[in-house]
Amino acid sequence: MKERISGEITKVNELVASEINDVENIRIQYLGKKGLLNDLFAEFKVVPSDQKKEIGVLLNNLKIAIQNKIEALRESIVQVEESKSENEDLTKPATELQLGSRHPLSLVRNEIIDIFTRIGYVVEEGPEIEDDWHVFSALNFPPEHPARDMQDTFFIENREDGNHAVLRTHTSSVQVRTMETQKPPIRIIAPGRVFRNEAISARAHCIFHQIEGLYIDKGVSFADLKQNLLYFAKEMFGENTKIRLRPSYFPFTEPSAEMDISCNLCAGEGCNVCKGTGWLEIMGCGMVDPNVLEASGIDSKVYSGFAFGMGIERITMLKYNVKDLRLYFENDMRFLKQFTSVY
Ligand code: DAH
Repeated sequence: MKERISGEITKVNELVASEINDVENIRIQYLGKKGLLNDLFAEFKVVPSDQKKEIGVLLNNLKIAIQNKIEALRESIVQVEESKSENEDLTKPATELQLGSRHPLSLVRNEIIDIFTRIGYVVEEGPEIEDDWHVFSALNFPPEHPARDMQDTFFIENREDGNHAVLRTHTSSVQVRTMETQKPPIRIIAPGRVFRNEAISARAHCIFHQIEGLYIDKGVSFADLKQNLLYFAKEMFGENTKIRLRPSYFPFTEPSAEMDISCNLCAGEGCNVCKGTGWLEIMGCGMVDPNVLEASGIDSKVYSGFAFGMGIERITMLKYNVKDLRLYFENDMRFLKQFTSVY
């Protein structure tokens, strides 16, 4: 009897059915009143008592196997039928595809890239984990400059030669990497993530994004810088946008300037965004310091150039009137879904 039951279990596992009627026939054949299982249970009554336990377990397994098989066959047939009937109604509206939208920072980054590539800039990238040389020394930062301080910079690894591994605090490091590996003329923009050891608030974050620009050739002047940036401001914020350059200081540019655009919210009249001044600061810029050119092996007697750098968060805030930096990183769909553009 043992072999018979085992044989039946194997058979049950191999059962197939293509219609619901077949499943019903299988059920009657095995579980019906005159079905196989009832016959076997009848035979079981006369099994000698020392074999009862073993055969009883087997018999039970057979019953469970049949029940599971019938359930599985039934389910697969129902599924096939359902998908058939769904496909049959060709007039049914299609299931809606939920389209995602690009992050506002990506939209603005892409737009800035587009504006500069139209006048011949190419995109360069550099590593986020940098070293002291590319972030500070090659950019003419004196050894005691406060930007190198632990309070600003995330140090990854202290190295004996002083060229510590750091998370880059600005994308200006890509200027150095490009000058080290390419010969002028160089005309690049470098978008990327930067890191500073700052407390998170509405106006500051420890991770943010910048776009760096660098143009080096023979005879590049401050007038070229001004014209490139005016073109950018008009493309980004509208044809009527004005720019103004204020003297400033950066170790890697001489002279250095900060660029303001006329406030696009009040058209220069003065409002709470521009704090009544009519102007908004958007980037730092200047003529590349000869020390920086020389540090990367470019002859400063032959070549000159300009550089600029801006925060993508800041530009996005101004373009879309976003008041809190933290919104960019919280991934709240209600915020993110509001931004559409061709970029
Ligand atoms: N690296 C500067 C910063 O993070 C921004 C900057 C200023 C970049 C002037 C430049 C520049 O290329 O010329 O604050």
